[in-house]
Amino acid sequence: MHTETVPATALRLKPSSEFIETPYIRDLTGRALEYLRAGFPVHFSGPSGVGKTTLALHVAARLGRPVVLLCGDHEFNSSDLVGGLYGYHKKYMKDNFIRSVLKTDESMTTHWVDSRLTAAFQHGFTLVYDEFTRSRPEANNVLLSVLEERILPLPAARGGESYLKAHPDFTTLFTSNPEEYTGVYRSQDALRDRMVTIEVGNFDDETEIAVTQAKSGVSLEDAQCIVSLVRKVREAKSNKLTPTVRACIIMGKILKLKGETARQANHGFRQTCLDILMPEVRYEEREKVRRVIDDALGAILIEEAHYV
Ligand SMILES: Nc1ncnc2c1ncn2[C@@H]1O[C@H](COP(=O)(O)OP(=O)(O)OP(=O)(O)O)[C@@H](O)[C@H]1O
Ligand SMILES: [Mg+2]
Repeated sequence: MHTETVPATALRLKPSSEFIETPYIRDLTGRALEYLRAGFPVHFSGPSGVGKTTLALHVAARLGRPVVLLCGDHEFNSSDLVGGLYGYHKKYMKDNFIRSVLKTDESMTTHWVDSRLTAAFQHGFTLVYDEFTRSRPEANNVLLSVLEERILPLPAARGGESYLKAHPDFTTLFTSNPEEYTGVYRSQDALRDRMVTIEVGNFDDETEIAVTQAKSGVSLEDAQCIVSLVRKVREAKSNKLTPTVRACIIMGKILKLKGETARQANHGFRQTCLDILMPEVRYEEREKVRRVIDDALGAILIEEAHYV
């Protein structure tokens, strides 16, 4: 059987057993796989913490090809995407065999190293470019011909061909945060036009509970209490996107670590909720959100009293 040699920069991903699949997630992954199989790059766009990277890596794993992961960075330039000349080999020779004659000879050579994109492009791997809008738009220019014509122009310094044609299995997945986020650039319209953008928002109730339970190890009942509290906080704020499932997981992990349940949680859990949920609440909404948290925790404790 032929086993493909995979460079060290590529990952062999298998769908993770920790990945939660609910009808909501299956719908998202199904749509992404359809677009990719039809030959279109897929872009998951949405606020921080809604599960974009996890989703992109899961979809990449489902494609069954080695995966190359790139993370956007404002210091990237096009050579970081294509490759560049790195390192050098310096040779210095001093010949003083005849004492009255000194002969020196110095030479230096650099060598070309392909980037992850170039390697994925040639070998037909899946490229996951996470947070691609954190790179400056001009650094991503090379992607225009990569996505549309499936051609990668190469600098002369590389030697050999001036263009590479994409391997038929080469596929791309992107993720990004909204432009309003700090450190995020507006991507070129031309680049966005070449991708199918799937907008990812907060998960549905069932998925949020399942992910909280699986990732923090709390009981189903605790996961339900946490998600219900977080949803109430979201509703009470003008920015209804946060807190996300990431906050639910952190609250669950802390509850679990303390060996408590949401119903029997003491005053410490209220403080944990405030620490995790309050920091990004706007000043004028803080009192309202604090009341929502207290009411929700109070209701959980009253239910427990009736239960006992
Ligand atoms: N389907 C899922 N199954 C299990 N865990 C998940 C799933 N989706 C998201 N998570 C968990 O939710 C958390 C947030 O997900 P992730 O890091 O992918 O979000 P993101 O949208 O990429 O955030 P950011 O924009 O900040 O990078 C992670 O802890 C992740 O493991
Ligand atoms: Mg991410």
